[in-house]
Amino acid sequence: ANNIVILISGSGSNMAAIVEAAQSRHWSTRYGARVAAVISNRADAAGLVFARERRIDTAVLDHKAHASREAFDAALMAEIDRHRPALVVLAGFMRILTPGFVQHYEGRLINIHPSLLPAFPGLNTHQRAIDAGCRFAGCTVHRVTAELDHGEYLDQAVVPILPGDTAQVLAARVLSQEHLIYPRAVERLIAR
Ligand code: GAR
Repeated sequence: ANNIVILISGSGSNMAAIVEAAQSRHWSTRYGARVAAVISNRADAAGLVFARERRIDTAVLDHKAHASREAFDAALMAEIDRHRPALVVLAGFMRILTPGFVQHYEGRLINIHPSLLPAFPGLNTHQRAIDAGCRFAGCTVHRVTAELDHGEYLDQAVVPILPGDTAQVLAARVLSQEHLIYPRAVERLIAR
């Protein structure tokens, strides 16, 4: 089976968009693909509630309960690998992953980043785009490599930055595009 495992840290709206697409576009009958598990590093991630409602396996692995980044990633890999994933999807997963983790999932690990990469890797992307005087912002779906926010771009979407935009307003405009391009990129990968 083409199992998909999604990692979240927060609201999980991208994860929800992927789950909705999987169900409404019949990924299971078309591709034998399903979202097998949603894993969070935070017990209070709102996305966990949605995943449980959809009867998707969930797990919480608290990074603070592990002595090192390597120990956390080892536990995370063990949890992910129980599901034998064809694709591991980072969806607002706010942890930097070790090179060992990235290597283990090479070719089947993707992320969405809320900027038009290569502009604005890292955090605070929307405020930085506004402060830089950019006229456009957006989001990027990319393969994950050991270098943060690098790796082949699979899709991007562009939105305007409008006069008076706050980071919050811009984030919402970008997020609505994320919900379009992320499920589409996942579907392209599992359809191959
Ligand atoms: C999204 O905007 C995503 O691009 C961003 O966090 C948000 C998560 O929202 N990811 C990063 O900043 C990764 N460094 P969601 O939990 O509702 O999908």
